[in-house]
Amino acid sequence: MTPPPRDILVTSALPYANGPIHIGHLVEYIQTDIWVRFQRLSGANCTYLCASDAHGTPIMLKARELGIPAEEMVERYRQEHLRDFKRFQIEFDHYHSTHSPENRELVEEIHARLLERDLVEWREIDQAYDAEAKMFLPDRFIRGTCPVCATADQYGDSCEACGATYSPADLKDPRSVLSGSTPVRRASRHLFFRLGRLEASLREWIAGGRLDISVARKLEEWFAAGLRDWDISRDEPYFGFAIPGSPGKYFYVWLDAPVGYLASHASLIAKRGGTRADLDRYWGSDSSAEVYHFIGKDIAYFHTLFWPALLEGAGFRKPSAVYVHGFLTVNGQKMSKSRGTFIPAATWLEHLPPDFLRYYYACKLAPGTEDIDLNLGDFVARGNSDLVGKYVNIASRCAGFIERQFEGRLAAGPGNQALLQEFADASERIAAAYEARDYARAMRDVMKLADRANQYIDEKKPWALAKDPTRAADVQAVCTDGINLFRLLSLYLKPVLPALVAKAEIFLNAGPLTWSAAATVLLGTRIGRYEPLITRIEQAAVDRMVEASRPAPPA
Ligand code: MSP
Ligand code: ZN
Repeated sequence: MTPPPRDILVTSALPYANGPIHIGHLVEYIQTDIWVRFQRLSGANCTYLCASDAHGTPIMLKARELGIPAEEMVERYRQEHLRDFKRFQIEFDHYHSTHSPENRELVEEIHARLLERDLVEWREIDQAYDAEAKMFLPDRFIRGTCPVCATADQYGDSCEACGATYSPADLKDPRSVLSGSTPVRRASRHLFFRLGRLEASLREWIAGGRLDISVARKLEEWFAAGLRDWDISRDEPYFGFAIPGSPGKYFYVWLDAPVGYLASHASLIAKRGGTRADLDRYWGSDSSAEVYHFIGKDIAYFHTLFWPALLEGAGFRKPSAVYVHGFLTVNGQKMSKSRGTFIPAATWLEHLPPDFLRYYYACKLAPGTEDIDLNLGDFVARGNSDLVGKYVNIASRCAGFIERQFEGRLAAGPGNQALLQEFADASERIAAAYEARDYARAMRDVMKLADRANQYIDEKKPWALAKDPTRAADVQAVCTDGINLFRLLSLYLKPVLPALVAKAEIFLNAGPLTWSAAATVLLGTRIGRYEPLITRIEQAAVDRMVEASRPAPPA
């Protein structure tokens, strides 16, 4: 008996709705999309959720600057993000917003459960306040001189010059970024989540092998330092959800943001006519479904400590695993506006096709948290050589003969059974690499196979055989092998290159490929007309894109 399909829920982090999606973000959404597509091809019931992260001080201030209501700005960016993701072939089942009725309801429910279980308490604390702008200041809105190395104009929480982290109270000569005035200390009541009470169950969760070893080690450090209670409230003015029964107080954006995963799911379920029971089937404490969050290393603390603690505290299940990736560098350096490497997704698409970026990221992505580098020279060479020179070349070398000499019909039996078997045998290995998020290994394997296929065609020389009328059957057999090798490579690349492989499927004329197709061979059927599937990219296009991403010089 075949086991029932896995029920899998997958999320990517919810992008802030106050700026465009850029190639750094795309590392994560492409990484997640590939995994989701692989799961679906292998028969899992896999749902991919995301949403806009709509709340918080930066969003409120950006909307003020634009002179529009925050709701309107968030909705504009939500649409824009969704458009960019679609063009990069990132396919969500649902893309919601944290500023939604579903999210408000779930946040209030979680808050009520935490209250019931005595896991939250109000406490008065002192905080930096801008008396001119009339608001409390997040650490990032205070700048001053580093207390450690005395470099001027550093953030309120960390120094970019010496890397020290500190409390904004220690900063020398502090200034509010909003008004330039000196912040004053001011007392305010805040709601604290008593994290420490959940330490035992958090430790147990972490011990379950759900995290990369480097992330688990970091958590050990945090535990060793002692879990501090977490401030989950903010004072008005704030764009967020008001805390019921506490006028002027709002839930901190990082409380309602991850709840947005549930809200997006709830909204999708409602759209499909389901009920709360369907949500609980995934999120209830006794759920047997799998839940995976893909995130960047900068937000690991929120997802591996606060989020599981919140879920536990509110009586929901915890994630099956949190998959943490590293940061994108371009040509070995941090993305930079002045170098033109802070490339918006939309700018990319004006100059280059999305498939090459998806492929390049796949070649670089492994399960760990190491940063990944986009080397723009290597990018052009690798895409052209692998996709055009190796993969697509196999089809283009074989299709013409089948088309012209055999009316598009493949041979009735295979020429080289052993070679076809070798390619089919790779299916399990490649599936294991995808499952483990080791796309780099999967791509190396696929390109080795592509080399093998091209080598086979080189050896058999169908173009030479075709000149001898008595060898027609051999031409058909060799080209049928070639097309079948191309077919399996298409399957193995399908999670990474869905649009390109969709064109290949039309050419192969045998329906959509799924993972079980690896066990079959196309024989005696007719293939479609071969149209060039992909064209080479030019370094000049990359140069133009970098130029277009540089800020315009002042007029
Ligand atoms: N809104 C929060 C996430 C809330 S999740 C409940 C946030 N948003 S973000 O827009 O700043 O980032 C979204 C995701 O993109 C994060 O996982 C982040 O790590 C990732 N990346 C943003 N810039 C990146 C790079 N330069 N490189 C790789 N990933 C990057 O954080
Ligand atoms: Zn410093």
